[in-house]
Amino acid sequence: MIERIKSIPKTNLLEGKRIIVTGCGFKPAKYKFYDVTTKEESHDSIIVNGKDMKLNIGAATAFVLAANGAIIHMVSRTEERLKILKEQIIELLGIPKENVEYSAVDLLEEKSIEKFVKSLSKDKPLWLVQSIGLGAGAYKLKDDNPYLHIEDIPPKLIEKESTIVLKGTHILMQKLLPIFREQNKKFKTETRVAIISSMSAIRGYNRGGTHCAAKGAISRYANSAMLDLWKEKIYITDVRPGAVDTGMYDNPVVQKAILEVDKEYGNYWNKTEIRLAPPISVGYAINTILSAPAHITSLNLVAKGQFPNEGS
Ligand SMILES: NC(=O)c1ccc[n+]([C@@H]2O[C@H](COP(=O)([O-])OP(=O)(O)OC[C@H]3O[C@@H](n4cnc5c(N)ncnc54)[C@H](OP(=O)(O)O)[C@@H]3O)[C@@H](O)[C@H]2O)c1
Repeated sequence: MIERIKSIPKTNLLEGKRIIVTGCGFKPAKYKFYDVTTKEESHDSIIVNGKDMKLNIGAATAFVLAANGAIIHMVSRTEERLKILKEQIIELLGIPKENVEYSAVDLLEEKSIEKFVKSLSKDKPLWLVQSIGLGAGAYKLKDDNPYLHIEDIPPKLIEKESTIVLKGTHILMQKLLPIFREQNKKFKTETRVAIISSMSAIRGYNRGGTHCAAKGAISRYANSAMLDLWKEKIYITDVRPGAVDTGMYDNPVVQKAILEVDKEYGNYWNKTEIRLAPPISVGYAINTILSAPAHITSLNLVAKGQFPNEGS
């Protein structure tokens, strides 16, 4: 729904911060899911060349943080999509154009990350929201479906899914750490970081051999980094969304697979009742994490009507 985007409340909670948001993009809407109560569409839209596009978690978060006064710096590999996102944030929210920045960066390439980090303006404290996903090209998933039985998981998929996001997150953290330390002294401030893992890190299911393992790894990484760095006023949060309506569930094969998962949790859904959280809801959660006068160590979030089990 584009109305949900247009009506994000504006505050100055994050004014004076530059926040890198990785994994910003959108995909054509190929299937519609609905909220259990309001019956509104659960995806958050922008219209591009007359077509309805589903914002992903990074992009929707960028909209929310920009509305709350941050200078946002969006990152993904595809410059054309980042340019469109910038135009839409300015147009739909009335944000000044100097508050919306972007860089096309491959977050798996150490040299490319180094160049990006060097190029960032350091005039304001730099914070981070890490939301990259398994990109197209890194591994082509059959039917876009990571929810596979053990005998159907290609070893290459295990290797790619469990290392890519983790490795990208780790390299970026290593390159940003000196800046975080330096800025905490220079601005007499603190640094906040939100790392998106998933409810799949803690909510197990059959067909989770790939996804639960990968998300468990990034979640434990976020926890270790948090315990390592809080003493230096670098506050890290592990954000665990359940299924979110970013296009990942538009393929009927994926829907069939998650209906099987739902069966294990009580068989609440049928094909027309799969409940997915709007990506903007993750953005609101991250806004709270970054602006609360406390260190929120981790946060779980599921769509209304989605099995809320915090364990399997
Ligand atoms: N959607 C859900 O239901 C859900 C639920 C819980 C957790 N999560 C996790 O949250 C994260 C975001 O999910 P999403 O659904 O928003 O994912 P998505 O739509 O697949 O977006 C992933 C983003 O990462 C970017 N990316 C991929 N490889 C990259 C690289 N090497 N360097 C820089 N950018 C790269 C992609 O853009 P380019 O291809 O243009 O680079 C894309 O914008 C993922 O880690 C996902 O597993 C998702």
